[in-house]
Amino acid sequence: MRIYLDNAASTPLSDNVLEAMLPYLKNNYGNPSSAHQEGRTARAAIEKARKVVANAVKASSFEIFFTSGGTEANNTAIKCAVRDLGVQRIISSSVEHSCVLNTAHRMEAEQVEIVFVELEATGRANLDHLEHLLNDRSKKTLVSLMHANNEVGTLNPIDKIGALCKQYNAYFHTDTVQSVGHIPIDVSKLNISFLSGSAHKLHGPKGVGFLYVNKDNLIEAYIDGGGQERNLRSGTENVAGIIGLGKALELATTHLEEHRIKIEGIRTYFIQELQANFPDLLINGDYSGAYLFTILSVAFKSNLPVNMLLFKLDLKGISASGGSACHSGSVSKSRVIKTLGTPDGYHTLRFSFSHLNKKEEIDHVIAQLKEII
Ligand SMILES: Cc1ncc(COP(=O)(O)O)c(C=O)c1O
Repeated sequence: MRIYLDNAASTPLSDNVLEAMLPYLKNNYGNPSSAHQEGRTARAAIEKARKVVANAVKASSFEIFFTSGGTEANNTAIKCAVRDLGVQRIISSSVEHSCVLNTAHRMEAEQVEIVFVELEATGRANLDHLEHLLNDRSKKTLVSLMHANNEVGTLNPIDKIGALCKQYNAYFHTDTVQSVGHIPIDVSKLNISFLSGSAHKLHGPKGVGFLYVNKDNLIEAYIDGGGQERNLRSGTENVAGIIGLGKALELATTHLEEHRIKIEGIRTYFIQELQANFPDLLINGDYSGAYLFTILSVAFKSNLPVNMLLFKLDLKGISASGGSACHSGSVSKSRVIKTLGTPDGYHTLRFSFSHLNKKEEIDHVIAQLKEII
C-alpha cells in the first residue's frame, strides 16, 4: 500500500479527466488549425476547454492562453511584460517558485531592477513595505507575487495586492498554480494583469497549463511560428492536454466546497495527531489564518536530515516532500524554509493532500513517523 501525500508536487490523473482526453489521443486526431471536419472537431473542443478555464477564474475566453504548464505561463507573463509593456522594475519575493524568481533575475540583463518585498514570518508579503516600494513611481513596475506558497501554503491577499497595484498604476502578475481550483478566484474583481495555472496540480495531465492575460495588456508572440493561441504561443496545440486541463478545472470548481471540507478535515486531524505525538513539532507558514488547505509544512526535531526522513518514509510506503519537488532528493535545506527560518536541529517535511486521501491514512503515517523520529 502506498500513501501519497505529495499532491503539491503533482496529483494523480482523475479517471474522468482521462476519459475526456482519450478520444483526442486516438480518434479525434485532427489538427485544430485544419479547416476539415477532423480539424474543426479538435478546434471546437479546445475552445470549449478555453471557456471552462475562463469561467473558472471569471475571465473572458480571449484572455486565456494555453501553455505547456505553470513554468511557461510565468515566463511568458514576466518576459512579455518587460519586452512589450515597458516594465523596468519587478517587485517580487524571495519565496516565489523558481520559475518566477529565475525569470525575474534573467530580466536583470534587460536592465530591469528586481526588488524583493519584505516578508512576514509566515512568508506572506508585507503590504506596508509593498506600498512603500510602489510609492516610488519612477519606473514602470510589475508586481509578481504568488497566491499560495507551494512549500508552506501561506496565502497572499491578492485582493489587497491588486488594489495597491491599481492605486500605484503597476501591473500585477500572480502565480496561482497551487490555488486555482481550490480557492475561488475572480480576476474581474482583483485587478490582476497576468495569472498562471497548471493542470497537473488538479488531477489533470502534466505539460499543460494556462496564462490569463487581461485584455488591456497587449503582449506579442512569446513563441513565434504559425500564430496559434492568438499569435502569443505558436505550435500545434496539445489538444488532449488542453481537454484534460478543461475537464480537471471543471471538476475542481464543481466540487470545490466538498473537496475543501474533506481536505481541511484531513489536514486538521493530521495537525492534531502530530501535535499530540510530537510535542516539539513546529508548523511552518500560516496554519491558522490564511493558508491553502492542501499543504502542511512541519518541522520535526530530529537527528536525521530531511533526505533520510523522506527515504525512511518512502520505504514505509509514504510519499512526502522536503520542500518543492525540484528540491526533493537534495540534501540542502529548501530556499523557502531557509528564508522563513527554522531553529537548528529541526527538519522540515511537506505533506500535501487531495480529496483522495483518507483519515485512516493519516493514522498510518503518524504510526510510521513515531517509529522513524
Ligand atoms: C507555485 C508554483 N508555480 C509554478 C509551478 C510550475 O508549474 P509546472 O510544473 O506546470 O511547470 C509550480 C510547480 O511545482 C508551483 O508549485
